[in-house]
Amino acid sequence: MDEAIMRSLWREAALECLNEACRQRYPLTEKLFACPSCGDLLWIAYEPAGEEPDVARARWRERRLSDDPLDQSGVWRFRECLPPIAPSHIVTLREGNTPIYRARFCAQYAGVRDLLFKHLGLNPTGSFKDYGMTVAVSQARALGARILLCASTGNTSASMAAYAARAGMRAIVLIPGENVAMGKVAQALEYGAVTLQVKGANFDDVLRLVRELSARPDVYLLNSLNPFRIEGQKVIFIELLDQLGWEVPEHLVVPGGNLGNSAALFKAMVELRQLGLIARWPKLTIVQAQGASPLAEAVARGAKCITPVAQPRTRATAIRIGHPVNWKRALRALEATGGFCVAVSEEEIAEAKAAIGRDGIGCEPASAATLAAVKKLREQGKLVPSETIVALLTGHLLKDPDYTLRYHSGQLDDVLTGRPLSGRLANPPISVEPHLDAIARYFYDGRFST
Ligand code: F0G
Repeated sequence: MDEAIMRSLWREAALECLNEACRQRYPLTEKLFACPSCGDLLWIAYEPAGEEPDVARARWRERRLSDDPLDQSGVWRFRECLPPIAPSHIVTLREGNTPIYRARFCAQYAGVRDLLFKHLGLNPTGSFKDYGMTVAVSQARALGARILLCASTGNTSASMAAYAARAGMRAIVLIPGENVAMGKVAQALEYGAVTLQVKGANFDDVLRLVRELSARPDVYLLNSLNPFRIEGQKVIFIELLDQLGWEVPEHLVVPGGNLGNSAALFKAMVELRQLGLIARWPKLTIVQAQGASPLAEAVARGAKCITPVAQPRTRATAIRIGHPVNWKRALRALEATGGFCVAVSEEEIAEAKAAIGRDGIGCEPASAATLAAVKKLREQGKLVPSETIVALLTGHLLKDPDYTLRYHSGQLDDVLTGRPLSGRLANPPISVEPHLDAIARYFYDGRFST
């Protein structure tokens, strides 16, 4: 195992400032979440070692047969692409290994020939956050941190709480005072995290608080400005290609909140190309909810920087973020890959979510924004129906059961306009008499055809 890590695709790794005018480097052993010299974000820079791409691909395949916990993790299986962390510090819940589904109902719904979903919601804590959390919590352990801290719209806190419990570390999660899906809060409580609901605060407010608190020496910050989170989330793209036999799709579609995932996917694209593992990039499309869409608004205006949204509003609470920290990298990803940035309405998200359910897949509202965007781009003629499209479903259906029940029982309104949603795919429960005939009548009812 050690030997495999040593046989890394990378020679050297260091923290590096993302500001091109600064580019200061720091050793990985420093606990840093911003550049001490200029205050910009940091990422991990590597020197490629020049291993043969085929050798790397074959080794990653071979590990699927292994019983080693690190090989069984869909993240650590690709450890040559990750920062070096001693195996004794690694905290894993066998994250990753998430499936790709072909979605027929949704393809028809969006008007495209074929549509693939990679369901990141099928991770141990039900969201894509586990990809990044296993790496960042392992680094926290390597640095000897005792207190793990995050701000969250819910999924980061659920994931961090689980990994902290595995590692025997204290977890402190700060969540907004309201608008957090209860499935996520329940997870944080169950995993033993100290769960602080900050009165009157939204996500952007709580993120400001944890950034200040992270200066304390024994505290380690787990939000996506932590460069190790980004490293783990790169694997989403690497694993996707491994599953697709290294055929690069034309489009990759992702919901955007704090834009850490968009940044991570693009970092993976750049590095895989440097290593000769792929020859081109997919177009990365980032989707935001209309009431929380600072990036989409900047792109529509042709602006080079975002104007934060002071009071973001959407029922897709995971992406209810007005001032995303990773916006610069997301903008760069859009420019470099030629992808689109799309804002979708509350109605479009709700309908798309129900459509994903009809393929037997299901997801939480923020994830469904991807299908809404594919439909919209197709209607605008920006997608060719024959192109390969992969959309990332970031969270599990059961994260936010309240939203789903309200949609199907006609009680969901548009948070921006106050109008009820049309609920075209609503499937409310039916109260029925305890008689065989009354029940059997529904066996052949045409209203329920698939
Ligand atoms: N989808 C889901 C289900 C999420 O939980 C999040 C972010 C996103 C998409 C957006 O990802 O921030 O990388 O652009 N949730 C964070 C949290 C903010 O606190 O759980 P992003």
